[in-house]
Amino acid sequence: MPACAFSMVEELTKSHVHMKDPEFVKKTIQQMTTDGHEKLQVVADFDRTLSKFTNKGKVCSTCHNVLEESKVMPDFYKEKAKVLRDTYYPIELNHDLTIQEKTPKMIEWWTNAHKLMKQCSMTQVDIKNMVAESNAELRDGCQWFIDHLHNLEIPLLIFSAGIGDIIEEVIKQQSYMYDNMKIVSNYMDFDNTGKMVGFKGEIIHIYNKNENAIHSSDYFERLNHRDNILLLGDSLGDLHMVEGAEVTNLLKIGFLNQKVKESLDLYKEKFDVVIVEDESLDVVNGITKAILNIPSQQ
Ligand code: TMP
Ligand code: MG
Repeated sequence: MPACAFSMVEELTKSHVHMKDPEFVKKTIQQMTTDGHEKLQVVADFDRTLSKFTNKGKVCSTCHNVLEESKVMPDFYKEKAKVLRDTYYPIELNHDLTIQEKTPKMIEWWTNAHKLMKQCSMTQVDIKNMVAESNAELRDGCQWFIDHLHNLEIPLLIFSAGIGDIIEEVIKQQSYMYDNMKIVSNYMDFDNTGKMVGFKGEIIHIYNKNENAIHSSDYFERLNHRDNILLLGDSLGDLHMVEGAEVTNLLKIGFLNQKVKESLDLYKEKFDVVIVEDESLDVVNGITKAILNIPSQQ
């Protein structure tokens, strides 16, 4: 790719950034820039997309890891949650199985994990403490991204198959939960003493992150004038997050955090921009600066 094609986004010329069709990426960014911030919305996954996969090489916590690694949770929870993850995570990552084949297994995983959490008598205060002590971390540059979307009132939907209460707490402790941000995820239910008694609504798992999971809200309908969408994800399931939205220009940005050799070709097919083993949000911020006409030094 000629470097000049991306003079507007220097980050896209870096060697860990891959694009199957750089011309499409360039045209889409140019169109989004022309259309301006009033046409833009962002839909992002949380775990390992807005949050780090690794920090200086050390693996960081996902929402579920926050519980599994905490001193607060009982040993039986940790042991059983690990057995579940060792059973089902390889299925999630197995590219030889179709989504249809994987879906029943994912429902089993989430159902069993939620049942297990219910047996632990955790409280809302425990959640705050567990997040504070965890090594769940927002990516470097996430604060910049969140602040600038907020400044221009660009909606940010965080769509996660993780745990909403934990996501909200990570964001509140490490950044700011602005009113242009909405989290759609699995939210815990607490009784009036603050004890966790289950989960609200239907399970959101890795392969139903689509309009069905937010069908009860009119989120995308209210935003149908914002038909330029930046999608950020790290899993192939994340590609469905914008189903149900009005789309004119869509730029799909994928973080490939692990199994790079095996997955790069597939990720390049599915995502327009693939960012390999990067602990920051710098590439996304570079694209955002171009779209919003923000000088690159800011
Ligand atoms: P995401 O959609 O926010 O990326 O989060 C989903 C991830 O959570 C997915 O990779 C599977 C993982 N997970 C666990 O680690 N433990 C669990 O108990 C469950 C249900 C999911
Ligand atoms: Mg993820």
